[in-house]
Amino acid sequence: MSTGTLLEVEDLSVRLRTARGIRLAVDHVSFSIGQGEILGIAGESGSGKTITALSLLGLLPGGSRTTGRVVLDGRDLLTLHRRELRSVRGRQVSMVLQDPMTSLHPLLRIEVQMTEHVRTHLAMSKDQARERALEMLAAVRIPDPEQALASHPHQFSGGMRQRIAIAMALACEPRLIIADEPTTALDVTVQAGILSLLDQLRRERGVSVMIITHDLGVLSSISDRLCVMYGGRIVEHGVTREVLGSPRHPYTNGLMQALPGASGTGVPMRPIGGSPPSLDDMPSGCSFHPRCDYAQVSCSSKVPPLRPIGGGRLLACDPDPLAPDRSEPSSSGAATSVPVPDPLAEQVP
Ligand SMILES: Nc1ncnc2c1ncn2[C@@H]1O[C@H](COP(=O)(O)OP(=O)(O)O)[C@@H](O)[C@H]1O
Ligand SMILES: [Mg+2]
Repeated sequence: MSTGTLLEVEDLSVRLRTARGIRLAVDHVSFSIGQGEILGIAGESGSGKTITALSLLGLLPGGSRTTGRVVLDGRDLLTLHRRELRSVRGRQVSMVLQDPMTSLHPLLRIEVQMTEHVRTHLAMSKDQARERALEMLAAVRIPDPEQALASHPHQFSGGMRQRIAIAMALACEPRLIIADEPTTALDVTVQAGILSLLDQLRRERGVSVMIITHDLGVLSSISDRLCVMYGGRIVEHGVTREVLGSPRHPYTNGLMQALPGASGTGVPMRPIGGSPPSLDDMPSGCSFHPRCDYAQVSCSSKVPPLRPIGGGRLLACDPDPLAPDRSEPSSSGAATSVPVPDPLAEQVP
């Protein structure tokens, strides 16, 4: 569990240059990550999760503009020069992406990639870097680290490649790993393995993890707290167990209802109608209102502020139709306790 804040993001906004002009892709987002904490960022495709993550490390496409503060260990990353940022990346903060082939070079042996990565950031001899690589491969439970060093990425399965990408991310002992859809391309069993690996790394090494996913089920057993994003904003934020146990934002509730039921429960999947907005036609007011079962007239004109609703929870919904004293248990879209499939439970012993 967390002991002190590692990363503090305050009022982060990102404007992207698109074919049709400048568009606000991340809209006044604030959150923090504690040491050894796993923070989940959830939301459908296009909600601004990846742009948020990339902006933290200055990795946005050209022409983008980021405002706000991203304070890591007392330093605002948004004020750093390119070179300083490069040293933060890899050394203090590492990224793991959905497709490990984007972080692994297809033509180079794992040994070359890992030792070069280590030596770029740490003053180590080749032998020391090799030792470090072996240690990290063992830490992510690669069966034969020596043999892995001698291999090329294509010789591994997708799950093993993702483990190697995580080993690489860990090699410089970063304090924070940002994992963007790290298990999306993997089947459930392999996904469970990667998630329990991240959980083990935070317990054993005190690494903090920001895990981004479109799948709330992924976060159910692994993240301590979570932010639900929609249309570039955080719409609900709180302790994972509490948010998933009784979602308060109609969007969070919709995502929960859309989850496939835990095996054997027979709870049907009920997808949210419509699709997420594009940056070019962001609805006015609450951007979720056109898809919301509970929308009122005022929702199309007033942007609901993200406000505390007790217990450290934040909610951006003004009618607050799912407040405990308001929900009607029999209504089809009402907040109900949907059993969340537990990806870690799918793991083979
Ligand atoms: N390079 C880009 N140029 C223009 N628009 C982009 C670019 N990258 C992402 N977007 C838009 O920004 C919004 C947020 O995207 P993204 O952060 O990738 O969403 P998520 O990761 O939640 O799926 C989307 O509407 C997406 O289409
Ligand atoms: Mg994304």
